[in-house]
Amino acid sequence: MAAEIRKVGIVGLGAMGSGIAQLCVEAGIDTVGREVTAELGERSRDRIGHFLTRKVEKGTLAAGARDAAVARLTLTTELAGLADCDVVIEAIVEELAPKQELFAELETLCRPDAVLATNTSALSVTEIAATTSTPERVVGMHFFNPAPLMPLVEIVRAELSGDAAVETAYALGERLGKHPIRCHDTPGFVVNRVLIPLLNDCVRVLDEARVTVDDLDAGMKHGAGWPMGPCELLDLVGLDVHVHASEALYDKLREPRMAPPPRIVAMANAGLHGRKTGRGFYTY
Ligand code: 3HC
Repeated sequence: MAAEIRKVGIVGLGAMGSGIAQLCVEAGIDTVGREVTAELGERSRDRIGHFLTRKVEKGTLAAGARDAAVARLTLTTELAGLADCDVVIEAIVEELAPKQELFAELETLCRPDAVLATNTSALSVTEIAATTSTPERVVGMHFFNPAPLMPLVEIVRAELSGDAAVETAYALGERLGKHPIRCHDTPGFVVNRVLIPLLNDCVRVLDEARVTVDDLDAGMKHGAGWPMGPCELLDLVGLDVHVHASEALYDKLREPRMAPPPRIVAMANAGLHGRKTGRGFYTY
């Protein structure tokens, strides 16, 4: 594996990919972000610039450091633009087939010593790695939403991940200022294995206890010390993302609590995805 991480590639610059790219450029690492269109790439650059400017306004970042960080990000619409990266982190749509296709392609384009990481939250890293002929360099790097603010990254060892790839990903997590933890590739890894059924229980309680959304959120904030209520959190994560992840875990584990409650399936189907669509449990 590459001795030193000089350049990181991020594939997919949505909320998670942009957040990870922001962490990389803030850590002083040259970063290539790949989106399918130049407009989507520019949108991500603007988003990163916006959050870094807020830091400047709040006095936690110098204007020069912000400009240098933004300048470290280059954008591409071609996967070939990632050819000289030491680590590539995938953050595209949370579906197995497109991820497998991407990893098969990355394997042919990237240097043989590059680590290929997926930010999947509920799919199997082993199944993603299985489409490559070098599964030893494939690992999971699971960041939490919002990536720039949440300190955790799960470093996921798939069935055939090599030690060198796992340690490179761990070292990158540390360099990005995160608190990395190591785990094996099991459904939901560590945090989502616990958090997803817990959030589903919270939604079931809404109907069972006939508590309002505001009161449920207040209950978990003031009675359990959560930084935000479960409904606020579902709106942040995205109802569509949560339902999809719940279904993926239910498929694998067959535990009833993993299955998304009908109420949030209906919300997701109706386009009430939370903050990103302007409406979820709350209106934004
Ligand atoms: N990206 C970059 N910067 C961001 C940001 C983002 N998405 N969102 C906010 N910021 C910046 C903003 O500049 C903001 O300052 P501003 O409002 O003055 O501009 C600054 O961060 C601080 O934001 P907040 O004042 O909102 O910070 P809080 O102190 O309120 O904390 C929080 C926010 C960290 C999100 C906190 O509420 C929290 O910890 N919530 C729980 C989140 C959580 O549990 N996430 C995990 C979800 S599960 C998951 O991700 C798994 C996945 O697989 C689905």
